[in-house]
Amino acid sequence: MSLDPECRLCLLWHDRIQVVPPSGDRLSKVALVGEAPGANEDEIGRPFVGRAGRTLDQLMQEVGLDREKVMITNTVKCRPPENRRPSPKEALACRPYLLEELAGKRLVLALGISAAEGLLGRKVVMKDSANQLFDVELNGLELKVMVTYHPSACIYTPGAKDVLREALRTATTYL
Ligand code: URA
Repeated sequence: MSLDPECRLCLLWHDRIQVVPPSGDRLSKVALVGEAPGANEDEIGRPFVGRAGRTLDQLMQEVGLDREKVMITNTVKCRPPENRRPSPKEALACRPYLLEELAGKRLVLALGISAAEGLLGRKVVMKDSANQLFDVELNGLELKVMVTYHPSACIYTPGAKDVLREALRTATTYL
């Protein structure tokens, strides 16, 4: 299902400024999936343009991964109030959009717990699953998913930055 800028499939429409579509190359073989737009993303209309985005940009640059050569999107496309985590119900409502975005991808990097649990369909303990590859079947879509840390986690989780950098390095080999 293609993204509806007027979407009201869940209640997040109420507080959003805008629906935030994927950025980068929609036809890329690699997708990065975050959690949800934050305040900056909601204002600008592009994923990962705030503080987490700057961390992501820095790490991508370090491994030579061009932001415009991958597709960057979120589990839900609208900002949850107070930047809370999207609920499973909201993630499910937004799922048809994500499925359309991920069709044909060779590798999906799930950035953080929300994306990882949404894509794997189960609880995830990041320190146990980080940078592991999972074959996932999602509504008939077969995907290779690498679970890794969210760029925001790099601020408070020791070692997260190195792990995320390695996941991004792996992504370069799938382009
Ligand atoms: N965090 C996310 O998960 N996604 C964004 O777009 C920005 C911050």
